[in-house]
Amino acid sequence: MSYKDTFIKACKKQEVDTLPVWYMRQAGRYDPDYRVIKEKYSLLEICQQPELAAEVTLMPVKKLGVDAAILYSDIMNPVASIGIDFDIVKNIGPVIHNPIRSSADVEKLRPIQVEKDLSHVIKTIEILAAELKVPLITFAGAPFTIASYLIEGKPSKSYIRTKELMYSEPAVWFQLMDKLGDMVITYLKAHIAAGAKAVQLFDSWVGALSPKDFQHYVLPTIKRIFAELNHLDQPKIYFPGVSSGELLPLLQEVEADVIGLDWRVSVPEGRRRLGSKFAVQGNLDPYVLTAPMSVIKEQAKLIIDQGIQEPGYIFNLGHGLFPEASIDKLHELTDFVHSYSTSALAA
Ligand code: CP3
Repeated sequence: MSYKDTFIKACKKQEVDTLPVWYMRQAGRYDPDYRVIKEKYSLLEICQQPELAAEVTLMPVKKLGVDAAILYSDIMNPVASIGIDFDIVKNIGPVIHNPIRSSADVEKLRPIQVEKDLSHVIKTIEILAAELKVPLITFAGAPFTIASYLIEGKPSKSYIRTKELMYSEPAVWFQLMDKLGDMVITYLKAHIAAGAKAVQLFDSWVGALSPKDFQHYVLPTIKRIFAELNHLDQPKIYFPGVSSGELLPLLQEVEADVIGLDWRVSVPEGRRRLGSKFAVQGNLDPYVLTAPMSVIKEQAKLIIDQGIQEPGYIFNLGHGLFPEASIDKLHELTDFVHSYSTSALAA
């Protein structure tokens, strides 16, 4: 099989004959073979074994027929290197044992040391870059989203402590954003040097902020991250997470190639808010996958028809896959995106 580069072409807004498709959180518990591996090892233990982490990364590529692989890792992985002690707890998510509550806690954070602390991640990327016939996407969590875990100590719905720190101690907040921004830049540069073909910044929870607060408290760091990576040829994706539609008009100066959309904003409306610079990725509501296949295809068809109106569209979900998703439906959806988009693009 030859190398499939439709994903990279679409990121660069080049013409394609068939739309590329991949799914956020495509490696995971919906796959019984993954669950077998998870019975033996935790997420972090899998990540520490490059051969196994590479195998888990490859599973959805083989089973779902997607056009990109995403590194099996977690947004929390690099934070151990800066001095955060955490676990990823089943059905909860990241739990931090030493949450950030003060200026002193932020002072204590160290610069990331990729070679010393994260050589297993680099090794996994190297294995995959040599083996894959589709591009490898690697990723980092964005500063706000990571900060929300570090400050709350666990997943939150309100982000109350995060917002309290942001509003009450802006100097501490910006120091934290700077340190997490540095971490992301160093980490993603190391991924690209190891062979990543694209990188995605997951800002899953930043939609919790008003546009004005996003612009003031978060956007400068997002701009800095992408400016620092801009000289690299590999496409860069920013995913501003769920409920981020109102933030889209503010992203125009971000030097990313692709913006991920959630399902609350249609693809044409997303493009209108973003301007013509970006490719877009998304945005099927993941929970549509609970529907009968006819409904899933009907919804996918609408998104594809809108997506292909301009070059620069990548089919994906509007957020990550959930554990109950059906592997058969996912495979059928992938095939449908390929076949339907091929005829629609030829028409
Ligand atoms: O996309 C992929 O297939 C690559 C792997 C990946 C994981 N986490 C593995 C994982 C990616 C891209 C992530 C990113 C991530 N992690 C995000 C951003 C994406 C998003 O969904 O918004 C966030 C917010 C996290 C933090 C996190 N890690 C959460 C909320 C959870 C779920 C907790 C649970 O048990 O429901 C995790 C754990 C996690 N990360 C799992 C996987 C496959 C599931 C638990 C497991 O299998 O151990």
